[in-house]
Amino acid sequence: MRDGDRYGQGFVLWFTGLSGAGKTTIAEIVERDLRARFGKIEVLDGDIVRTNLSKGLTFSREDRNTNVLRIGFVANLLSRNGVGVVVSAISPYKEARDEVRRDIGEGFIEVFVDAPLEVCAERDVKGLYKKAFSGEIKGFTGVSDPYEPPAAPELHIKTNEEEPHESAARVITHLEERGYLWPVEQYREEYDRA
Ligand code: ADX
Repeated sequence: MRDGDRYGQGFVLWFTGLSGAGKTTIAEIVERDLRARFGKIEVLDGDIVRTNLSKGLTFSREDRNTNVLRIGFVANLLSRNGVGVVVSAISPYKEARDEVRRDIGEGFIEVFVDAPLEVCAERDVKGLYKKAFSGEIKGFTGVSDPYEPPAAPELHIKTNEEEPHESAARVITHLEERGYLWPVEQYREEYDRA
């Protein structure tokens, strides 16, 4: 069921989870799909934001929260101007995520991208877990630094139980149900009428 027509309104899909859980992979598929169906899309990825907007920040609790609040600030500016924003950042602390949720309001959609630590470490896409376990990197999320899982995310995706395109499809369906996207059939009807 759709809970209202919000087509054209901005929103913020906020992917949170451990490094290697699959945030960026799912976000990229969602982004591609949204570009075709929504138009104005912007992506804010922690890894990239840390090379510019958050350059110089460390991975201390305070700096991670600063990073998250900065991303949230930009996401808020964009979404209130009708942009669909896709954020991927570990965002390990509940307090910062909840502050962003309060600032953005109903357009904030928290997506918990969840995979067991062992699975993320096994994937080790960037080779960072190896360094974290050996102690070469200190304060690594999930290994030697905390991750506080969301208590009530809008979506909870378990990436070791489904394929990335299935997870992405659930995100899109959520947007349709919330009224941010028209279901594909409705596009067809509009198209046929025109
Ligand atoms: S956050 O905690 O501030 O939200 P963010 O998503 O921006 O993190 O950046 C996480 C990325 O930084 C990881 O995917 C990884 O590539 C890199 N990184 C480097 N050091 C750490 C660390 N100590 N903990 C987690 N990620 C780290």
